[in-house]
Amino acid sequence: MGTEKPSSLPTADSASTDPVDQVIRYHIQTKHHFNRYARSMGFLDWANQPDPFRRFAGAELTPLPLLKPDEEPISPAYEAIYHSEGVACQPVTVQALSRFFEFALALSAWKKGGETEWALRSNPSSGNLHPTEGYVVLPQIDGLDMRPGLYHYAPREHGLERRAAFPTEVVAQLLAPFPSRAFLFGLSSVHWREAWKYGERAFRYCNHDVGHALGSARVAAATLGWKMVLLDGADQNTVAMLLGTHRVDDFAGVEPEHPDCLCVLWPSGSVKREASLVNRDEREMPLFLDPSVVKGLAETSWYGKANKLSGEHGVHWDAIDQVADASWKVSSDLLALSGFRSLANDASQATSDAGPPAGQIIRQRRSAVSFDGRTSISSARFFQMLQRVMPRPERPQLERPVPWDLWPHAPAIHLMIFVHRVEGLTPGLYVLVRDRAKLPLIQQSLNPELVWTQLPGCPEDLPLSWLLEGDAKRAAAQVSCHQEIAADSAFSLGMLAEFEGRLRQTGAWFYPRLFWEAGVLGQVLYLEAEAAGVRGTGIGCFFDDPVHEMLGVQGLSFQSLYHFTIGGPVEDRRMMTLPPYHHLNR
Ligand SMILES: Cc1cc2nc3c(=O)[nH]c(=O)nc-3n(C[C@H](O)[C@H](O)[C@H](O)COP(=O)(O)O)c2cc1C
Repeated sequence: MGTEKPSSLPTADSASTDPVDQVIRYHIQTKHHFNRYARSMGFLDWANQPDPFRRFAGAELTPLPLLKPDEEPISPAYEAIYHSEGVACQPVTVQALSRFFEFALALSAWKKGGETEWALRSNPSSGNLHPTEGYVVLPQIDGLDMRPGLYHYAPREHGLERRAAFPTEVVAQLLAPFPSRAFLFGLSSVHWREAWKYGERAFRYCNHDVGHALGSARVAAATLGWKMVLLDGADQNTVAMLLGTHRVDDFAGVEPEHPDCLCVLWPSGSVKREASLVNRDEREMPLFLDPSVVKGLAETSWYGKANKLSGEHGVHWDAIDQVADASWKVSSDLLALSGFRSLANDASQATSDAGPPAGQIIRQRRSAVSFDGRTSISSARFFQMLQRVMPRPERPQLERPVPWDLWPHAPAIHLMIFVHRVEGLTPGLYVLVRDRAKLPLIQQSLNPELVWTQLPGCPEDLPLSWLLEGDAKRAAAQVSCHQEIAADSAFSLGMLAEFEGRLRQTGAWFYPRLFWEAGVLGQVLYLEAEAAGVRGTGIGCFFDDPVHEMLGVQGLSFQSLYHFTIGGPVEDRRMMTLPPYHHLNR
């Protein structure tokens, strides 16, 4: 995969209309350089700061119950969610949906500093701007007291706004290929929220945030014993029609939403309908939706008009619209999940409940704003964190571990790791190849003089190589826009994506997916850091090409898309922390 030689490199001003050239051009154009950042306003227009909370006026809001940690459904041990069949399967009820959204997209705290108060959420977001909006498509489900339809999640109210009423039989028809009690979860992005601060580079950040939200949703589903898979065979018009983002009147004069993706979720204890077992291979599940059924749904009753998020928009960044168009997924692919088995989950199989509950780890997740420059982690912990980001591509899809069972593509992201303070490991530069089959491709694409040394003591299933010895602290901070968080940690890393070859082979629509995969990976690291008693921070600001030069990356074969850092945090004690829903009287 992706072994073909890079074709002539498009440059930032090349006029090619080929979508792959266009997304590559956007990527080059939005790089940060030592002497020049990607284009943005260069200042923050506070008067027009976007509202982080979208609401649809006229859409009925169903408040979800605000559950205490010890109310049902109680979350299992954090460790248990990574073991298949480790969690008892919960039925789809309003309580379970409430937990799902609490762990996926809800507020997790309010912070107060002086007169300013801002909300944090279970999912992180670049600049805490939260461009990502969440939706569910619910069919008639026994035990779930909600009418079939499309609902928008309102995080400030922890409620579901009914955007559309869908006829019971038509939703049932749409979801017929999936296990019983399946429903859909969708994400869209308000690009403006990130563009307000970050200008042209914002499309990248919106897609990182989609990846984080996919990761937080997958983990949330896992705490309930639910499966979740990205329906990435669906074309984007279908996603738009189902999420209602194409409805011009509902968004007239306000910031549009870009339809990103749809996932199917189901309780893993669901047994497939007996009739279908006779003729169908139960090991195949389609990862697309029937566009004609979706079209029928899109013509039913809709409710609500989206709110305006900013009074005025100083600058409109055309580059974002252009890359969004170029990466629009026009084809509906007959992608199917092989190796699919509908497991009858036996609650008695639930594994040990040792260690902190998943809910605790999810609620306490935060980004470190600075690190102490002292805390180290053990090599065993370091290896465990890296094992959690391994998708195990050699396994059938649904046997991949959480959250990688969500991802229907071969992995494209590998890690270049700056080890600063890991006990038993020499400080220096390391590379984790997340798909062993790609090792030759990676080795060919980097500086040929690098010596790849296997680490003694490293678990066999971890393709981690040691490349360079030395103190990488200064270099890590320097390439991360001079942010000390990349140096004062135990380790920091850059996520290297298989780039031009993969895009030319798969299509421009894969460009956002590279960021989604990086975001899911970042979400795993955030949670793993909390579980290890340390803390993580995503780093979207880095100088692109100086990172590539450190490894001697050839051309556009690989590109670093996202950085991350983990270490001992230093709390900012000037901030007050308030409970997430203290503003509601429920
Ligand atoms: C894609 C992405 C990029 C980020 N980039 C940076 C960064 O460059 N520097 C930084 O200090 N924090 C960065 N963050 C952390 C955010 O500022 C943080 O997630 C946000 O303020 C919300 O806080 P929380 O993560 O504690 O909920 C990034 C987060 C994400 C998801």
